[in-house]
Amino acid sequence: MFYIFPTPQAIAEHLSGVLLQKIQSNPKSVLGLATGSTMEPIYAAFINQAKSSGLNLSEITTFNLDEYIGLAPEHPQSYYHFMQTHFFRPAGICTSQVSLPSGMCNNIEEECLLYSQKIQNAGGLDIQLLGIGTNGHIGFNEPGTPFSSVTHVVELSENTRRDNGRFFEDKNQVPTKAITMGIKEIMSAKEVVLVATGSHKAEVMAHLYTTGIDEQMPASILKEHRQIKIFIDEAAASLLPMEAKLAI
Ligand code: GLP
Repeated sequence: MFYIFPTPQAIAEHLSGVLLQKIQSNPKSVLGLATGSTMEPIYAAFINQAKSSGLNLSEITTFNLDEYIGLAPEHPQSYYHFMQTHFFRPAGICTSQVSLPSGMCNNIEEECLLYSQKIQNAGGLDIQLLGIGTNGHIGFNEPGTPFSSVTHVVELSENTRRDNGRFFEDKNQVPTKAITMGIKEIMSAKEVVLVATGSHKAEVMAHLYTTGIDEQMPASILKEHRQIKIFIDEAAASLLPMEAKLAI
């Protein structure tokens, strides 16, 4: 379940190879995508590998995990903007192939329902990529979120707003709410890959390694997924118990 790589780049090269093979064997793959700094080298490596191998991306469908409420798609800190910049535009993926929840709709409850239905109508997710928050959140499912949740609105925790404040000019500009795919939908993906890199993720990874299944640690439910892989670099693995490193 836990796989340690020497560097974030080594994870990026490996994981993009996995994605490439998946799309080669099923050009209509449905990908669940994530945002955040952890994903940047992964998307960059994937785009390189896809271009050099002439991979056909025209039939894939993608669903992102989450979006801030109140940020328009063109806002530089919206997740739509992140995905266009780091993945969709450089990879030549059309807007008709991609879905993110809208943080600017009038009826947010209806948007949640429609997003869930859209994922189901696409046949579910073949693979879901995940980062992790320093408090163990996945998507924007904060500690305490029921494991049975589907796409919903969340009140962001102070911890998450502080962590994500580094992307905003002023930390007070970090939205207080977001819309996120639920834990049930993440768990319904056929495969899940969680990636954590950097020493600032060491504590949460040690906690994830040792904890039982606990709604206060949202990522812990992944231990029950049949096809879960957790890719971490040495810095993020630095606080894992020694026996864990030997076992890995
Ligand atoms: C945000 C996103 C998560 C992401 C997390 C970690 O809160 N909603 O999906 O996993 O940040 O981001 P980073 O990779 O920048 O540490």
